[in-house]
Amino acid sequence: MSLNKTFALPRGTADILPEESFLWEEIESKARRICQSYGFREIRTPLYEDVNLFKRSLGQTSDVVNKQLLELASHKDDEGYALRPEGTASIVRSYLENSFDKKEALSKFFYMGPMFRGERPQRGRLRQFHQIGAEAIGPGSLSAFLDAEIISLAMFLLESFGVKKAKLKINSLGSKEDKERISLWLREVFAADKALLCPDCQNRFERNVFRVLDCKNETCKGLVSRIVTKLPLSDEGTRYFECVQEALRMAGIDFEIAPHLVRGLDYYSHTVFEITAQGLGSQDAIGAGGRYSQLIHELGGNLKVDFGAIGFALGIERVLLAVQSSLNDPGFIDAYVVILNKGEAFLKEAFKVSDYLRKAGFKVDLSYLERPVKSQFSQASKLNARFALIIGEDELASGKISVKNMKTSEQELVDRGAVLDYLKKIASLRSQ
Ligand code: HAM
Repeated sequence: MSLNKTFALPRGTADILPEESFLWEEIESKARRICQSYGFREIRTPLYEDVNLFKRSLGQTSDVVNKQLLELASHKDDEGYALRPEGTASIVRSYLENSFDKKEALSKFFYMGPMFRGERPQRGRLRQFHQIGAEAIGPGSLSAFLDAEIISLAMFLLESFGVKKAKLKINSLGSKEDKERISLWLREVFAADKALLCPDCQNRFERNVFRVLDCKNETCKGLVSRIVTKLPLSDEGTRYFECVQEALRMAGIDFEIAPHLVRGLDYYSHTVFEITAQGLGSQDAIGAGGRYSQLIHELGGNLKVDFGAIGFALGIERVLLAVQSSLNDPGFIDAYVVILNKGEAFLKEAFKVSDYLRKAGFKVDLSYLERPVKSQFSQASKLNARFALIIGEDELASGKISVKNMKTSEQELVDRGAVLDYLKKIASLRSQ
């Protein structure tokens, strides 16, 4: 049977099938544990928000707002919503709406889940993709050590997922005042060559000249590398950037300074960074982030003290592309119940035993279809079962179960009431 094409999977989305979902589970549980060890707590925000939250936060000139926002068809009561293209804006919204600014000096959140961008799909670029991210927000975030902590967390997550040779590039856009001054400076230095810039950059020149710096067009790239070797930061901006670099060195993190790195979202100032990995093709950014202190003030109105914020997000699909080959299925189940004889009494016994063991925390499976013994054993192997629990006439009559180790083929007859302890003993041996 095949699916009527009308109902096919939307372009740029993917089913995460059981063959792969164990990898997701592993990545997500590692991420939870590691984020918590850095003092971050999980936050879950809705998949859609008021469209103006994204327009205001990410910037009218960003591609994400200009070309990629997936807006929901409006109904009477819910006009003006869009699927979230990223997590930061929603988290700042939630931070302010739930008055975290009044409860603590520094709030540290992590999140994971789907994001949506109406992009042209290709390998590593989807319309529904997933991020793991972390954000540290509050007056207590104004320290260069926190920039290094956030970057250290991102790099450590990637390392623990098994991503090899992740490369970190960092830059600083300076303070809000620096950004304004540098923006005028960039317009000045590019003025004479403006006509040579690509049509997109001509537009960016007027609306957000920083974006000219990371244009992929060869002519623009050439001009940029000839004209801009370093952004002219203020003394304060330079000092801050140097402190971040020193803290990174203290954490043993290698980095490269990339003077043209500006990032596609408009909310950044001071530190920006991007992490690339091998094996991803043209979409080689596996994660990115930076400081976005101004965003809190823009969404929060009259905050009395100086607020800061910094965060990052990693793309899970890209992590998987980078590590796929190095991960093995860790094994799916502990035991498969094999029924030797036909008849309800055997099925009932198998049902009772598996239900009992499952409730004791073991992963157990079986078939109720009275299938040939051989095919039950091959199903047990397919599911990577460690044990086959065999129930036949002898077992039923004696109140026992034959427990077969699928790896060594050793088999033991165990009292029905003692199977749980037997498996527990083996499980504890396994975890030692
Ligand atoms: P971003 O650079 O737009 O930043 O996305 C972060 C990561 O999400 C990318 O490096 C990439 O791995 C993944 N990603 C983005 N778009 C796609 C896509 N269409 N398909 C697959 N993966 C994708 C942000 O989203 C910021 N919110 C990061 C941040 C957090 N800055 C501060 N806090």
